[in-house]
Amino acid sequence: MLITEGSAKIEIAGKLEKISRELPVFYNPAMAFNRSLTVLLLNSLDKTEMRILDLLAGSGIRSLRFLLELEKKKLKEIIINDGKKGFCRVMKKNLRLNKIKLSKKIFLQEEEANRFLTSAEGYDYIEIDPFGSPNEFLNNALKHLAREGILGVTATDTAPLAGKYPATCQRNYWAKPLRGELQHEIGLRILIRKVQLIGAQFDKALMPLFSFYKDHYYRVFFFCEKGKQKADKVMVQHQYLLYCPACLNRKVSFFNKEKCSCGKEFIFVGPLWTGQLFDKVLTAKMCRKNTYLELQRFLEIAEKEAEVKTVGFYCMHVLAGKLKKDIPKKEIIMAKLRKQKINFSETIFSPTGIRAAAEIETIKKLLIDY
Ligand SMILES: C[S@@+](CC[C@H](N)C(=O)[O-])C[C@H]1O[C@@H](n2cnc3c(N)ncnc32)[C@H](O)[C@@H]1O
Ligand SMILES: [Zn+2]
Repeated sequence: MLITEGSAKIEIAGKLEKISRELPVFYNPAMAFNRSLTVLLLNSLDKTEMRILDLLAGSGIRSLRFLLELEKKKLKEIIINDGKKGFCRVMKKNLRLNKIKLSKKIFLQEEEANRFLTSAEGYDYIEIDPFGSPNEFLNNALKHLAREGILGVTATDTAPLAGKYPATCQRNYWAKPLRGELQHEIGLRILIRKVQLIGAQFDKALMPLFSFYKDHYYRVFFFCEKGKQKADKVMVQHQYLLYCPACLNRKVSFFNKEKCSCGKEFIFVGPLWTGQLFDKVLTAKMCRKNTYLELQRFLEIAEKEAEVKTVGFYCMHVLAGKLKKDIPKKEIIMAKLRKQKINFSETIFSPTGIRAAAEIETIKKLLIDY
């Protein structure tokens, strides 16, 4: 069947209801959002003449969209790789379908990703979109990420990262996850730290430019700077989040054992990245430049969320349960926060969440006195 996504078309054998890795080429329509956002982000950066590597290209849809939707000056070269047998043949067909001529700037590869990377050069943008965890590709990809390069990573193994399988998370991501309302923000921050640690081995500092959770996947874009001190500055932002299930208090700490002010023991999560999830300037630019309808509301929230740099947000449902009280509508709560001049925003992590630069007791008081 013929599929259109953005400006690109691809021909897929079989039916879309059965998304599986057994398909002749892998295409997941639920990831269209992820791909639109990638195009928008690359178009919103100042970078031009990029050498792009699409390491695990699947159906090649993302690369086709790069070729058709990136501003002309952006692209110098694109290497489109997938280890699946027959990939190059299918990709050539899809290039023809989109009236894109194979030229000097387009390279097709049908290699095992890590094998390909051992002989590779430096890239300005590397895309890692695996089945499950990106772990096995991080080392080689980060070795080949150029100075001031961008890395786009997706992880679909949200179950360990979001605390369903803590032992797996510990083995694969070297940190303790959390189950509950903050599980996806915590999972994302654990993933970010893992990528940063791999980068640090090569004296590379990886700063998240735009990170999010959606439809059971995590996605992060990193900006890479070279330098030992820069890498050290990233590492000091790896700390624990202490969380009190009794009173919902939370705090960032270098230590993992402490008592909450309510008298109960905090539980700890992490270590995790405690710095920014979004680059403020870039996010605002993406919001202004966006032409993809499906991204608009999400970007508007992200733009505001970039201004409130807390680890964790407050979930109104969980708070209502804890207070054993009906709580006002979100709009009313937000009006109160505004009145009290508290820096806050909605959050892309949860429709019932509010990210606020305020202590738990302030938020509780605000919910009780209304
Ligand atoms: C999730 S799909 C990629 C989807 C694609 N990026 C997109 O946006 O539609 C993962 C792809 O990685 C490929 N793959 C998995 N392990 C690989 C490896 N070790 N080397 C090369 N390709 C691999 C699979 O063949 C599959 O096409
Ligand atoms: Zn407490």
